Amino acid sequence: MERTKWAAISGLVAGTVLLCRSIPTTFAFDKPVHTSIVVLASCAGIIIGLSRLLPREGGGRAHNGQQYDAVPLGDLGQPHGSREPSPSPGDVRYPSSLRKLRILFLILVLAICIRVEVLREVLANIQCATASWEPIIPLLLATWDYIAVQRHRKRFESDDDNPEGSVYDWLESSWTKARYRYVVATALLAYGAIDGLASASNPKSTFICAAALPYRWVVPMVQWLGTGLDFMILYCIGQLLHQQEGRGQRGLVLRFLSVGWAFLFSAVITLIAGLVYYVLAEQDRKWITTTSSLYLWSTLRLDGLLCFNIVCTVICIYHVGVMTTSTIATFVAASTITTAQAWSNPHPFPPLPAGMAFIALCLAIFGFATYLHIESTDDKSANTTSPTFTKVPSWLYLCLLILFFVRAGLWASHGNTVTYHPIDMLIYDAQSRHEAYINQTSASKTLAKAAQAYELRYQRNPPPGFQHWFAYATARNSVVIDDYDNIYRDLLPFYALTPEEIRLRTWQMIANPWNDAAGISIRDGQVAISPNVMPTHRWMLDGLVDMIGHFAEFLPDMDLAFNLNDECRVAVPYEEAEKMRQIGMTPMQIERPKNGFSEARNEQWQPIPEQAIAETPLRELSWQHTFYDFGSVDCPPSSPARTQRTWNVGELCTSCTHPQSLGAFLANWTLAGNICHQPDLANLHGIYLSPAAFKGAHALYPIFSQSKVHGFNDILYPSAWNYIDKAKYAPSPEHPDPPWAEKNSSLFWRGATSEGVSPGAGQWRGMTRQRFLHLANNINSSTAPQPILLPTPQKTSEGHNTLAYTTFPLFTLTKLLPTDIHIVDFIARCGGPDCPNQATEFHPLAPPSDFQAHWNYKYLLDLDGAGFSGRFLPFLLSRSLPFKAALFREWWDDRVTPWQHFVPLDIRGQGFWGTLVYFAGFKGAVGGGREVLLEAHEVEGERIAERGRHWAGQVLRREDMEVYFFRLLLEWGRLTDDGRDGIEFAVE
Ligand SMILES: *[C@@H]1O[C@H](CO)[C@@H](O)[C@H](O)[C@H]1NC(C)=O
Ligand SMILES: *[C@@H]1O[C@H](CO)[C@@H](O)[C@H](O)[C@H]1NC(C)=O
Repeated sequence: MERTKWAAISGLVAGTVLLCRSIPTTFAFDKPVHTSIVVLASCAGIIIGLSRLLPREGGGRAHNGQQYDAVPLGDLGQPHGSREPSPSPGDVRYPSSLRKLRILFLILVLAICIRVEVLREVLANIQCATASWEPIIPLLLATWDYIAVQRHRKRFESDDDNPEGSVYDWLESSWTKARYRYVVATALLAYGAIDGLASASNPKSTFICAAALPYRWVVPMVQWLGTGLDFMILYCIGQLLHQQEGRGQRGLVLRFLSVGWAFLFSAVITLIAGLVYYVLAEQDRKWITTTSSLYLWSTLRLDGLLCFNIVCTVICIYHVGVMTTSTIATFVAASTITTAQAWSNPHPFPPLPAGMAFIALCLAIFGFATYLHIESTDDKSANTTSPTFTKVPSWLYLCLLILFFVRAGLWASHGNTVTYHPIDMLIYDAQSRHEAYINQTSASKTLAKAAQAYELRYQRNPPPGFQHWFAYATARNSVVIDDYDNIYRDLLPFYALTPEEIRLRTWQMIANPWNDAAGISIRDGQVAISPNVMPTHRWMLDGLVDMIGHFAEFLPDMDLAFNLNDECRVAVPYEEAEKMRQIGMTPMQIERPKNGFSEARNEQWQPIPEQAIAETPLRELSWQHTFYDFGSVDCPPSSPARTQRTWNVGELCTSCTHPQSLGAFLANWTLAGNICHQPDLANLHGIYLSPAAFKGAHALYPIFSQSKVHGFNDILYPSAWNYIDKAKYAPSPEHPDPPWAEKNSSLFWRGATSEGVSPGAGQWRGMTRQRFLHLANNINSSTAPQPILLPTPQKTSEGHNTLAYTTFPLFTLTKLLPTDIHIVDFIARCGGPDCPNQATEFHPLAPPSDFQAHWNYKYLLDLDGAGFSGRFLPFLLSRSLPFKAALFREWWDDRVTPWQHFVPLDIRGQGFWGTLVYFAGFKGAVGGGREVLLEAHEVEGERIAERGRHWAGQVLRREDMEVYFFRLLLEWGRLTDDGRDGIEFAVE
């Protein structure tokens, strides 16, 4: 067994490091009880299996065979190593009677079972969790050791007046002999680890910990209970492994077996409890029995790692005792987590107290080294387990020293201040991006130039009828002539389908009304709505007919399928979609092109049957999670969105925000819409959490949608909602749009909880609208403090002040910066307890107000709903400044430049207050009573508002929608034409 000691300790260290790295992104916590049962059962199996490999000790062999200890110590009457539990009946440290053992065994089983339930409780509302107190466990064990052992120890020691430590000087000897020495060392470690973890933790997320629900205080209490249970579990395992009863007859094997059986019993009891729950809770049955392959693989991996770690822990406990084992594990875990965090966050945002974290780590290192030192010099005659080291080797000190220097380096390189405000730079940068955009899209002044630019951009010639489009666009003074990359991207994969397939799939979509797709048919230049369309959304189809009618005479005969739902529909898996896009990108060379569509296209489109067909290619996922089934399927297989689960919704995922952020602010709107590096979005938007209507396909079905999130293959078109002005910018004498300076300088939003459905499982807590409401209204007064970038007293070389992030409690911010963000009327789209919970949480609800009342406010918040926000275009047209947080993208996404025409916000809301403070200014006291003033950036705010208004009046007019749609449908005409590879527009 001695050989296994070092293997087990190294295994424990390596396993703990690996666990700390893999736990934050595992899927296994989606079903914590399932996972726990699997882990417990497999650990039990391994431990029971391994114990069969152990030497079976008979009575005498145990005494002679177990040579733990090279140094026979003191009591010669004891033939086995004295680090074995002392068999003297007076030793109270370890259980000696079978009865006590049974009680311990039962307590262990019970504690494990309750621990599983505690884990489930905490994970279900992890956003309410506080910092972990687990590092306190070694201290608890040391305290227990002090109470139960060291006092007895004193008696032994006073008998023995020739202490082994006589070679050390008096001071050290008195310290290492002090009875409270372990308590002091573990207390240092616990303090350092807890403090270090707290300073290294990510900022809290905006996921709602509802004040209306009891979890605010239940979860922290349950966390404490969990720490207590962990202590109990470790204690019981330690006792069972060192039981005196097992000496002689029962032997080593039985001791390990008893731990294995305890795991197995707990697994069985948990399983039975789960089965009972399954029978009782009808509504959860489906959830309990369905798993995904992602979950299975992730659980399998975690299971392997956990079992390895648990087995190493058990062997370690056997060799070096439970206190030393937990000390090693705590130190390794704390230094891994804090170092990784310091490594990946060298920037001023998130504002981590790097100095504090470094000091905490020093304390932890000091506590750990002290612990090992006193343990190695411990009085061996009275110790119960072998010490980790007889003398702490110098390589270990070297390792700790290296850790110290690495962290010192990280601390030194951590930047706390920035020399300029990121928003200044973003606005400056946006200006040149916008100019470059205009430059490259309005270069072509003649038809020939435009056709040439088309070919250069898209590696094929324009579709037939391009001359009509060009005439149409120039007649309406369209600024955008060349850049239709949006259309190109949307249509690219369709080149992998034959025209006939596209036509058939269109028919399949519109022939069954269940699909929620409406047909529009174009015949001989006339637009008509197909039969079989449900009367809802009539306005939308009428708007479409109106819009297409302007240019239908130039379009070939065809049928189109329009998405009647707000949610997008078609997500082709990456592996397939990438191949299709490659096919689409192959340049086409046509020998003798024909400038016109094929004849008799009319007959190629199957008529829509009066009697609806029953088959559907779609799968319904309304009111369910859609992220892994649809949302992320178009991401590369190795991307975080497909391999990681950020189950800790209580923390801001900084690796998800980094690529598109500059500090706390959103810098890259395009990248922010790409979900592939943002696995945390699975819990942060209604479309992924629980969409109201979701009928999606994984095969490339052609459907035209008003908006879509990343990864969907819907074809975007200008929404009829905006075209027919369902939400209109129309100030009146009663509701004027006053100049900027006369506006009320607060942030305004009115809306409904219509982003997704919350049927009772608390889905609303993650939805964007609800989160922003919560964040802005400081409903839950303990919502985490928010980072604001404010000037510091230090000057830069150019003489202006540097800036640093300071966090403020929300009540300070809401007092300084008024916001008016409320739900109108009633809570929509909810069920079960989620209706009253939201009503309480978001109380008071606002009365309905006139849409034109928006223009009274300087800042208008714009948030996604079930799909895109129909208000954004009117907001842009107004003199107010829109703040937009959205995942849905529309047809105009390329033409509007964030920070030039509107203010983008991250969907997580971490920069919400910081951005508002930039524009509205800040005056208040920071820590230490220092008065800080950040001037309001009124000029910048007004300028963006005016530029947006001006630009929207140029490129987002009704005419621009027609021009976009015209070009899109010409392309679609070519794609659905049998002569697709032989027709094109060619300059004569
Ligand atoms: C616009 O394009 C021209 C040539 O096409 C180039 O010389 C000029 O620098 C561009 N301007 C901007 C602002 O990109
Ligand atoms: C955003 O990121 C993309 C991809 O990395 C890049 O091509 C683009 O230039 C970036 N845009 C801005 C505004 O930084």
